[in-house]
Amino acid sequence: MKTPRRAGVTAIHSAFQFCFSVPDLSVAEVYYKQFGLKVDHQGDRLALATYHSPHTWGYVLDGRGQKKRLEYLTLGAYAEDLDDLQRQTMANGAKPADAHPSSVTSDGFWIRDPDNNLLQIAVREKVTPNEKAKGNAILYKENAIKVPIAHARGETPQVRPQRLSHILLFSTDVARSVAFYSDALGLRLSDKSADIVAFTHGAHSSDHHLLAFLKSSAPGLHHTSWAVANLDEVGLGMEQMLAAGHKEGWGVGRHVIGSNYFYYVRDPWGSFTEYSYDIDFIGVETQWPAADYLPESSLYLWGPGVPEYFGENTEATSA
Ligand SMILES: [Fe+2]
Repeated sequence: MKTPRRAGVTAIHSAFQFCFSVPDLSVAEVYYKQFGLKVDHQGDRLALATYHSPHTWGYVLDGRGQKKRLEYLTLGAYAEDLDDLQRQTMANGAKPADAHPSSVTSDGFWIRDPDNNLLQIAVREKVTPNEKAKGNAILYKENAIKVPIAHARGETPQVRPQRLSHILLFSTDVARSVAFYSDALGLRLSDKSADIVAFTHGAHSSDHHLLAFLKSSAPGLHHTSWAVANLDEVGLGMEQMLAAGHKEGWGVGRHVIGSNYFYYVRDPWGSFTEYSYDIDFIGVETQWPAADYLPESSLYLWGPGVPEYFGENTEATSA
């Protein structure tokens, strides 16, 4: 397939991998298996993949009792853009940085964003979508007279997400984060709500959200979001995690910004993992008309009320 490229821009194309640390790796292993990810031990870390591709979407490091913490993100670029990206990031206030001491790879170049988040910019395969995913049919089975009917409770297989969709970071200054990721790294504002939350997409085609930023008193990782095959899998994912004892979460509902159906599970460290279906897609020819939504009408079209802990940043509080 032809590599998608928006003309005239110097931009990363993917959130290739994330890396965070948790107090107890064995808790993370159980949690992400329950969520439906493929979890492998690689040395002293966990590698998170889906059952749909061999790509490792993220690593979890052993924080040895320290609270959960975002360690770094690897952002993927085309080979012909890497030098220009390095110049562009430096011209826009990026601070050069050393590679993370526990990173699997140290190639490309490493910088810190205005919130001091560590970023690796490196040549990688594009792992963001090149087109809008076609939704599968909602889950049915056929009964004895060939009428499509619902499965019995407990009869469906485990929900297993297809791929990472996006990452939402806490930001101490959302406008500053958007300016940096746009000017330095070529991400594009999709939509926002005041100075509370903003969503960016990749210039070379991606979901409506690639990286997003939520106002907080400190940096941190709010959630990783994982695409599932249909709306049923959002609901069944909720059931799966409730049955596994993860009682806190938000959804099922439908977002306004990005249009996706969602269910957020609260992870053992107070942040979230999202099942997402049918998020808007922004291709290389599309000039998305970024809107500024009113806070009271931007978050969800329908669904249960937002739990009061949803915006909590556990990386900001003392362990
Ligand atoms: Fe999300």
